[in-house]
Amino acid sequence: MAMALAEAGARAVYCVDLPKQPGEEWAKVRAYLARMEGLAGEGRLEYVSTDVRDQEAMWKVGEMIGDREGRMDACIAAAGVLKTHTNCLEYPAKQFQDVMDVNVNGVLFTAQAAGRQMDRFGNGGSIILIASMSGSITNKDHAWVSYNTSKSAVLQMTRSMACELGPKRIRVNSLSPGHIYTNMTAAYLDTQPHLLEKWASLNPMGRIGRPDELRGVVTWLASDASSFCTGSDILVSGGHHAW
Ligand SMILES: NC(=O)c1ccc[n+]([C@@H]2O[C@H](COP(=O)([O-])OP(=O)(O)OC[C@H]3O[C@@H](n4cnc5c(N)ncnc54)[C@H](O)[C@@H]3O)[C@@H](O)[C@H]2O)c1
Repeated sequence: MAMALAEAGARAVYCVDLPKQPGEEWAKVRAYLARMEGLAGEGRLEYVSTDVRDQEAMWKVGEMIGDREGRMDACIAAAGVLKTHTNCLEYPAKQFQDVMDVNVNGVLFTAQAAGRQMDRFGNGGSIILIASMSGSITNKDHAWVSYNTSKSAVLQMTRSMACELGPKRIRVNSLSPGHIYTNMTAAYLDTQPHLLEKWASLNPMGRIGRPDELRGVVTWLASDASSFCTGSDILVSGGHHAW
């Protein structure tokens, strides 16, 4: 997603994640952008190590970016965690809270950090909250009550923030991916390879998605191409919902 925004003309893309140092994937994207013709020093990728659960720290990251760049146009709130299968009748309070802290509070704090800067500069902006198809359906045979609940909260957070921020020309939409092969799902799928086939059979496309298949929708939502779109949830699930 960071690469897509840089390619589309973003001057600087700040990636916020937990590790002190950025990972290999981030370094590869930065090296790729540096080689890309036509960007002429634009499309700068920056890395900031912060915990999205820390509201004060997140607001400070927003201020730092605003001070350095003099603007804030788009934000993608994507941090999320998924816990192992746990019976909903036995679900421990601490584990439930841990998921909410990242998937709900962290998403709010990220959106606030960017939205406060968009408000400060007065040029509007676009905030994209990464929800999930699991916010509006339940993954069959998966005991993920905390994750599913958290993603439903993101859908309603989107509508609520969109209504409050519309007059400031700050748009808020959610993106709900279906099954995508990423580090999060690989940690689960790679231990039980038969699940990959099962997940693939759950949508009419007969396969799970790739992260790059979210590039187009993110670029569209972040840009003026979607200037009348707010409070919407965009599903990219290979048709999982259609069945
Ligand atoms: N992979 C899928 O099939 C799928 C489907 C629907 C929605 N999603 C959502 O997409 C988003 C990205 O997930 P992904 O699949 O790329 O998994 P991922 O595990 O690769 O990415 C999640 C990222 O969140 C970061 N993170 C976790 N806790 C954090 C914290 N406290 N502070 C800062 N960063 C933190 C992790 O370090 C990681 O980089 C998540 O919100 C996830 O719920 C994924």
